[in-house]
Amino acid sequence: MELYNYFAKLATFNLEAFRLSHVFLVVCIIYISAVLIKWSIKRKRWMRDLEQFPGPPGHWLLGHVTQFKEEMIPKWGEQYPYAFPIQFSPDSLFLFVHHPFYVKPILATTGPKDDFGYRFLLPWIGEGLLVTAGQKWFRHRRLLTPGFHYDILKPYVKLMADSANVMLDKWEVYARTEQTFELFQHVSLMTLDSIMKCAFSCQSNCQTERSNPYIKAVYELCNLVNLRFRVFPYHNDLIFHMSPHGYRYRKACKIAHTHTAEVIRQRREILNNNKKNKDECQEKRYLDFLDILLCARDEQQQGLSDEALRAEVDTFMFEGHDTTASGISWIFYSMACNPEHQQKCREEIQQVLMGKDNIGWEDLSKIPYTTMCIKESLRMYPPVPLMGRKLSQPITFFLMEVPAGCVIGISIYGVHYNPTVWENPKVFDPLRFLPENTAKRSPHAFVPFSAGPRNCIGQNFALNELKVVVAMTLRKYVLIKDPDHTPKMIPRLVLRSLNGIHLKIKLVEK
Ligand code: HEM
Repeated sequence: MELYNYFAKLATFNLEAFRLSHVFLVVCIIYISAVLIKWSIKRKRWMRDLEQFPGPPGHWLLGHVTQFKEEMIPKWGEQYPYAFPIQFSPDSLFLFVHHPFYVKPILATTGPKDDFGYRFLLPWIGEGLLVTAGQKWFRHRRLLTPGFHYDILKPYVKLMADSANVMLDKWEVYARTEQTFELFQHVSLMTLDSIMKCAFSCQSNCQTERSNPYIKAVYELCNLVNLRFRVFPYHNDLIFHMSPHGYRYRKACKIAHTHTAEVIRQRREILNNNKKNKDECQEKRYLDFLDILLCARDEQQQGLSDEALRAEVDTFMFEGHDTTASGISWIFYSMACNPEHQQKCREEIQQVLMGKDNIGWEDLSKIPYTTMCIKESLRMYPPVPLMGRKLSQPITFFLMEVPAGCVIGISIYGVHYNPTVWENPKVFDPLRFLPENTAKRSPHAFVPFSAGPRNCIGQNFALNELKVVVAMTLRKYVLIKDPDHTPKMIPRLVLRSLNGIHLKIKLVEK
């Protein structure tokens, strides 16, 4: 009897499971049909809105996904030198602009960002400066700008040099053996170490030990955002949420948020106690970003809420390390590919340092040739290759009107390779940035940090870090290209290489 009951139960259960699987299938079919209908309506409207702009033919469903590679942009650029429509996934349709004349009017506005790539960051960085819009953006930008004043940035140079030295010491083993190594991951940890010190005054030790859960979480979040960007079914919120990667993303977000909230709470407590605050600042002898954010007040003496503070700190954590890691890694690669320019930079740096171990704030303006090489590398390998805007108002380009609601992809990469602006754009030539040559070009021909009111607030911080790290590295090592490992550029939120960036190094002869 017991056995009978057991089998009866099992049969009911299976029937239940069978019914459930049918319901699930029907729900899936309805969902997929709804998505396909939405995509097709969106595509039709988009084709109508942008029909005056000719562009490369795409697949009816996948658009240009399969053709979209960095090397295609200059090719399309030659055929359509101003703008062309492009489709990244069935749901993401852009008017791709890559000429300074077209870029200028868009960057002159404070219009909202598109809701494609930036959306993947929202659960982590929240409505921080990068993604927010309107009055909130305006208020925050005003409150945060003093945090990037020269006086605040000055003491960071020493912190950046310390982080760079840790990385360069680790590299001694590669110099001794002259073996090829992948450098992007080293540089990422180094820039994360730097931003941790500048944002929180936190000695993360992340370059030597990986046990810090917050560092692990930030690293994981950057990787998962990049993965989500790459895997097209993950563009859908529901699919990503239900996937193992979505679970890992939520877990890492929780760790990052708990950490940031706790650091803010502790620092607020210290700041509330005036005496302690003074001691703390004297002990540190510099103000970190968190101090600046906590003390920021508008005309009504209103500061930022805890939620807003957390969003800004998390935004700096993302924007402040992945972008600079990309910039530095590609500069190293450019230097390795161009040994004669590398040697000129080294001689300039040696002359300025005159035997000093570390580069100082005052030295940063004395290395013009190195600065031109850094700019040329930012032109050829822009760390942020693409930006998105959703038009809140119609815009007219040479009598062609693009209606409000359209999404514009501003291809920084495309602008930097536009053959109507740059002669031989694929050639590394730092002299393009001699003042007399720069004066001949549109200010919107070189926009690695964007331009206009929504340009990069961390531009000076980033340029300082780039100069410090390049100077410290070239002083110690010769960077050598490895012909067996040519990097394959891939546009993600930041410019990366599909197969990493591999170099060989050797110690500079004294
Ligand atoms: C080489 C390094 C960097 C590059 C190439 C870079 C580039 C950019 C670009 C192109 C934008 C505009 C993005 C858009 O409109 O969608 C931007 C915005 C921004 N960047 Fe950077 N960035 C770098 C480093 C940094 C650093 C170090 C920080 C902070 C410490 C930072 C903080 C921000 C913030 C907060 C915004 C949003 C500004 C706003 O909308 O008002 N960036 N960056």
